[in-house]
Amino acid sequence: MITACTSAEAESVNVNVDDDLDYCAAQVSRSLKVLHSADSTDYTMMPRNITGEDTTWHCRKATPDEWCAGFWPGILWYNYEMTRDELVREEAERYTASLEFLSQRPAFDHDLGFLVFCSYGNGYRLTGNPKFKQVILDTADSLATLYNPRVGTILSWPRNVEMLGGHNTIMDNLINLEMLFWAAKNGGDHRLYDIAVKHAETTMKYNFRPDYTSYHVAVYNPESGEFIKGMTHQGYADNSMWARGQAWGIYGYTMIYRETRDPRFLDFACKVTDAYLSRLPKDYIPYWDFDDPAIPNAPRDASAACVVASALLELQGYCDEEKAASYSDAAMHMLASLSTPAYRSGDKRTSFLDHSTGHHPAGSEIDAAIIYADYYYIEALSRLKKLQTSTPLIAKK
Ligand code: GLY
Repeated sequence: MITACTSAEAESVNVNVDDDLDYCAAQVSRSLKVLHSADSTDYTMMPRNITGEDTTWHCRKATPDEWCAGFWPGILWYNYEMTRDELVREEAERYTASLEFLSQRPAFDHDLGFLVFCSYGNGYRLTGNPKFKQVILDTADSLATLYNPRVGTILSWPRNVEMLGGHNTIMDNLINLEMLFWAAKNGGDHRLYDIAVKHAETTMKYNFRPDYTSYHVAVYNPESGEFIKGMTHQGYADNSMWARGQAWGIYGYTMIYRETRDPRFLDFACKVTDAYLSRLPKDYIPYWDFDDPAIPNAPRDASAACVVASALLELQGYCDEEKAASYSDAAMHMLASLSTPAYRSGDKRTSFLDHSTGHHPAGSEIDAAIIYADYYYIEALSRLKKLQTSTPLIAKK
């Protein structure tokens, strides 16, 4: 049991990280049983969501356009890291191998980092398998083909250029930069680092409003590079704060500061974080969009809380004492809420968490269990465990 609260005025909160990790291990084992209940297991079918009254995963085939296919292998890697269960490691390797094809074909869109860095990235971090390294390096080169130097960002959705009116770059794309930074440090072209930094600078300039809340999408003229407009895709309105978009910003600029040590990015990560924290409901789990007029009757997005909790456990380590205390306190409140029966899937479902929202405007995955919530939840718990045991949060390489 640890108490994160160090500031005098904040209410202290307890998170029993060992219990929470045991819970995750038990849910992984239940999920694997269900996934293996057929005669032969199809390792290309990846858990994606549990909706409505259903109790176990709806799976989707690992294809270039299934952006969530890397999260289940990533969960298995984190679970293996925390338990050292060799059977889980074998499963992680089998599911991870189903994504190798992504390194051998042209990029479909920007999601290659989610797909390959959550799976192969964690796999390489834990095993050092040189084959994994090559897959990541090849995929990073493929992601870089979407970079437009006139705009200074990666094209997130090639398929939506016409619909959105130009070169589009979304908040989520920040997360995929981590694979470019990693590749540049691990034998890839240094240009991958330059692309990631330029993308981060351009996004900082155009995907945010003066109050540090974000537009989901920034649209640019692909020829002149001129910024055309900020808009939403998955949020409530163009000018609203879509919870997961802001969460990607918090996580993204924290990681970008780690990789560059440029203080502009740390300052920005804190401002984006403060805009988010200042408007959270009491239990620290955001509504899917902070500006949905249906609040307090709007659905929550537990996935955004997981992404932010994980990010804050890293960000607090870069801040002065006062800020560090307030960020770690916020992260602990998030993890404490997520670990209550109100958010845990518990016995009724095989996921870790309920109450995430995927694409509200499209009516898809509303108030559901979604695989990326579980991925960032177990990542946050593993980070907390590492903080407790003075283990570095991020592998050196
Ligand atoms: N990358 C899509 C999402 O956050 O829903």
